[in-house]
Amino acid sequence: MTIFAANWKMHHGPAGARELVRSVLARVRPREDRKLLFFPPAVSLAAVAEEVKGRHDAAAGAQNVYWEPKGAYTGEVSAALAAEAGATWALAGHSERRHKFGETDEETGKKVRAALAANLAPMLCVGEKLDERETGRTEGVVVRQLAAGLDGLDSGALGRVTIAYEPVWAIGTGVNATPRDAAAVHRTIRRWLSERSPAGTRHRILYGGSVSAANAESLLAEHELDGVLVGGASLDAESWIGIVSTPRPER
Ligand code: 13P
Repeated sequence: MTIFAANWKMHHGPAGARELVRSVLARVRPREDRKLLFFPPAVSLAAVAEEVKGRHDAAAGAQNVYWEPKGAYTGEVSAALAAEAGATWALAGHSERRHKFGETDEETGKKVRAALAANLAPMLCVGEKLDERETGRTEGVVVRQLAAGLDGLDSGALGRVTIAYEPVWAIGTGVNATPRDAAAVHRTIRRWLSERSPAGTRHRILYGGSVSAANAESLLAEHELDGVLVGGASLDAESWIGIVSTPRPER
């Protein structure tokens, strides 16, 4: 199964979101080995959820949730509210949440738990900054983020979590990690998860960071990648259809 996840960030209101999902799904046949996820802005969740209804190969997700179930938290959206709007997935700890909004490892962990409690499938985002890579700290950073996000979850809950490895220096820069470098970090993540799960569990680990129709095939040739999380290149139908049509080599 390959997961193609579109993170639209702060783009596409309800009307544009509906139109984009409709035109993509009209041209992309359902396939058992492919899942399409759309992460629109919160205001467009309900519209996207309506459009994916009836397509078992497509789902809507929240880009961010707050960990409290309800209350006086002006401007926030709880996991339960996102679920009510039709989300079945939620990102947690996206690089922009961490680095533009100061979200801590601990807060990210609370968001993963809140998503699970609301029956949303969490996608925990992890990834190192450029200076961390250049000073050999990639593995340490990623493992620290995994531990803060997931420690204490039982193997059942862990099995419901998807990881997106998104090196910060590759996001929105046009410079993607090489397939080999991405796969190496995926192996570190997989090892960490396997040590906490029943033998034989296959955890889903996606790569994100400047994925495009031009590089998706070489990235997805790595069996370590269970899919891609895409920002800029998921914003228009042509480019997104190009990415989700990427062939994968036989295993
Ligand atoms: P880009 O694909 O625009 O680099 O963004 C990646 C990302 O942050 C997806 O969550």
